[in-house]
Amino acid sequence: MSTIHFEFNKEDVSDLVIMPGDPLRAKYIAENYLSNVKQINRTRNMFGYTGLYKGKRISVIGSGMGIPSMGIYSYELYKFYDVKNIIRIGTCGGYSPDLKLFDVVLVDKTYSDSNYGFNLCKNKSKLVSSSNILNNKIEETAISLGINIKKGNNHTSEVFTPYIDSYNPIKIIKKYKCITSEMEAFSLFINAELLGKESACILTVSDTQLDKRVISKEEREKKLTDAIILGLESLLRL
Ligand code: HPA
Repeated sequence: MSTIHFEFNKEDVSDLVIMPGDPLRAKYIAENYLSNVKQINRTRNMFGYTGLYKGKRISVIGSGMGIPSMGIYSYELYKFYDVKNIIRIGTCGGYSPDLKLFDVVLVDKTYSDSNYGFNLCKNKSKLVSSSNILNNKIEETAISLGINIKKGNNHTSEVFTPYIDSYNPIKIIKKYKCITSEMEAFSLFINAELLGKESACILTVSDTQLDKRVISKEEREKKLTDAIILGLESLLRL
């Protein structure tokens, strides 16, 4: 079996999936955290892997950037591969002055202007929720691992927010109490709701309005460790 965008069979993928945006980060996670790893996808270089994390079978698959790319990959995993749980692990811009670089955020609801939900299934809501079941596990796991997380609403932007010029998202931030900005959670949450599945999103702050430091590639990689471990350990406890 394969789909338009994946080349593996149902039995090759776990029903527990971690999705980083970057396929090379999927490779990094598979190589550094999983044992008995098998690469399951190469189509369009959207690398995917299945292996064992502390004995539990978990898959790590890239989502690509933006609502449409995440929309395609998470839809196919939920709909055609019987995947039940997807945790997105990504980076974000921090809107709230309380957020510092490298803080870890668990997304509660995400707001987007996107028409993805309407175009897919006439879902007109612009503020969509992640899964309570997964969020409770993630919060419980964070406490037991001593990882400090903040929970709040997110803005899934269709434009990389540092590039926004004429349009100012300040009204959205206030109205929907968004503390972060990224570009993928909206389609993941819509797909999960439509297909009766579970979705969550753990973000690491990679840029803020207040701190203009440019983060090195190495620093970015190392500092994502908390989010990666939190995602994997939470799946372990399901
Ligand atoms: N906006 C949107 N997506 C992002 C950002 C941002 O500031 N940082 C990392 N991904």
